[in-house]
Amino acid sequence: MVSKRSTGLLHLLLAFGLLLSANGVRAQVDQAQYDTGEKVFKANCASCHKPDQAMTGPMLKGAKASWDGKGDIHAWVKNSQAYIKSGNAHAKEIFESHNKIIMPPQAVSDADIDAILYYADNFAPKGAAKAVAAAPTEAQPTSSSWQWLIIVGLLLLLVLLSLGGVRTQLVNAVREKDGLAPEVNLTTWGRIRRWAYNNKGWASVVVLLMVVWVSVLTWNFLFRIGVYGGDTVAHYKPSQPIAFDHTLHAGKDNLNINCQYCHSSASNSKSAGIPSANVCMNCHKVVAQGPKTGKEEIAKIYAATGWDPEKMAYTGVEKPIIWNKVHNLPDHVFFSHAQHVAVGKIECQKCHGPVDTKMDVVEQWSPLTMSWCLQCHNETEVKVAGSDNGYYKEIHRRLAQTPMGQRELRKYLEDEKITVRELGGWECAKCHY
Ligand code: HEC
Ligand code: HEC
Ligand code: HEC
Ligand code: HEC
Ligand code: HEC
Ligand code: HEC
Repeated sequence: MVSKRSTGLLHLLLAFGLLLSANGVRAQVDQAQYDTGEKVFKANCASCHKPDQAMTGPMLKGAKASWDGKGDIHAWVKNSQAYIKSGNAHAKEIFESHNKIIMPPQAVSDADIDAILYYADNFAPKGAAKAVAAAPTEAQPTSSSWQWLIIVGLLLLLVLLSLGGVRTQLVNAVREKDGLAPEVNLTTWGRIRRWAYNNKGWASVVVLLMVVWVSVLTWNFLFRIGVYGGDTVAHYKPSQPIAFDHTLHAGKDNLNINCQYCHSSASNSKSAGIPSANVCMNCHKVVAQGPKTGKEEIAKIYAATGWDPEKMAYTGVEKPIIWNKVHNLPDHVFFSHAQHVAVGKIECQKCHGPVDTKMDVVEQWSPLTMSWCLQCHNETEVKVAGSDNGYYKEIHRRLAQTPMGQRELRKYLEDEKITVRELGGWECAKCHY
């Protein structure tokens, strides 16, 4: 009787386990198509698009469906401007609703485009806590698949233990019939101990799994300390002493002030710099009122600079504004804005995100981790030959002078491009003091 009951339970358990494991595998998604899409996307589109968020371009998730019956999304991707000129209304509408930023023609095939859109539609960030179902990497189980293993293991154990309880009851029924004293009915904890004592092998496996679980959780936690921005973690967004709004001041549809009007050292020094209140006063001597906050916030600029708006004169009593720092690299890292903005010609938004369109309060958009720096250095091409950039020309000239340099140059050019990495952008000393 006992054995019948336990096999029944075992079947139930197996079914339950299967259900859980089926849940852990993304059965419906064509992984090969997803991977192809991801690769082509990263090579061609990732500089402007994210699958699940707007960046320079809109998010691509759902884009395919939104074109259904309205136009040819392939034609758009291959040459959006030509497609607009051909008279497609949907294309024109998209262009106009994105401040007429031009999406350059993309040298990709129809199959590539299908793969990219498939990837975007099924996109789920790697490493996010709930994303086992999303993009499992074959080699390493994610922390949550570990968690499932352990939960299933513990459930099994509990069921076995309650079977132990049933066993005691049955044994006692028999003993009572035979006129014997009943066996002591152990508490659950007592049974766990008895089970562990009798099954030392399994007990160590369970303990080991629990240790691994706790370690994985701790590791994940430690890994996130000090990391803000990026895809997986909430962006760091401290409040500021004055409600200064970048979308109002720098947005194309609003005041459209150039970033470097305020962050004026970005192109010639290490730091971009935060403007002094005097820069604000270039305009706010006259503009005393804003559309959202009225006079309240602008009054703080007057307090900081000691401006009396009634008398239209400075009183001499100043109270500096203490802005809260949003970005903060550790001291052992060297980062130069000039190198990236003036030499590398990288747009602010590439690293800081849509400051001018989305950030009424500035947030840290990129993760600022070492792998973030390295990844861009690995991907970004440096146009050395024929560049109008003196710095690159000089590197090219020097390389071409010696046979060794020429070999280097040929090696770099094997894949027809020279990346920042190939010019030393992965050398520890370039970024670390
Ligand atoms: C240099 C930036 C840039 C690159 C690179 C880029 N795009 Fe775009 N894309 C845009 C912008 C900006 C828009 C918004 C429309 C406009 O203003 O022209 C857009 C719009 C789109 C749209 C229409 C979105 C919608 O909601 O219907 C699709 C689809 C698209 N891009 C796909 C791609 C694909 C696929 C790639 C890579 C092969 C790519 N884009 C590469 C900037 C870019
Ligand atoms: C009118 C002046 C002004 C303009 C124009 C402006 N900013 Fe700012 N920016 C500020 C001020 C003031 C702060 C500090 C307060 C804050 O964080 O909001 C700041 C902060 C920032 C920060 C965060 C700095 C930190 O603490 O780490 C970034 C990044 C930034 N700006 C980028 C940009 C970009 C990109 C543009 C152009 C699209 C731009 N800013 C245009 C005034 C300006
Ligand atoms: C190039 C001119 C210019 C500069 C420089 C400038 N502002 Fe403004 N700012 C404006 C204008 C114009 C408005 C009002 C816009 C409107 O009414 O639509 C405004 C509005 C504001 C508002 C009110 C926003 C609201 O929604 O109510 C605040 C606060 C503000 N600015 C803070 C600053 C600070 C702080 C600085 C310096 C870091 C600064 N501004 C630099 C032109 C400027
Ligand atoms: C290659 C990526 C990259 C580009 C491009 C870039 N920044 Fe930064 N920015 C950073 C990093 C990284 C930090 C943090 C620096 C630190 O903490 O030392 C930062 C910090 C800042 C700060 C905080 C104050 C400071 O100078 O440290 C401001 C303001 C800022 N950036 C504005 C800009 C503006 C404006 C542009 C475009 C003209 C720009 N950035 C372009 C990566 C970039
Ligand atoms: C969006 C792409 C991008 C990101 C992100 C980025 N860089 Fe760069 N970086 C470049 C480019 C492009 C150059 C090449 C400019 C040049 O030719 O010197 C460069 C050059 C450099 C150099 C000079 C390398 C040399 O060979 O002289 C240093 C140092 C550097 N980056 C540090 C960093 C650090 C530190 C970070 C992260 C905090 C970072 N970069 C993030 C694109 C990037
Ligand atoms: C392109 C710039 C860049 C290069 C090249 C680079 N690092 Fe880093 N490194 C960083 C940044 C940025 C951080 C800060 C990361 C953070 O705060 O999360 C960092 C952090 C570190 C840390 C501290 C641990 C950590 O994760 O915070 C160590 C150790 C380190 N780097 C070693 C190296 C070594 C060794 C090399 C050469 C093989 C190297 N780095 C090359 C940018 C770089």
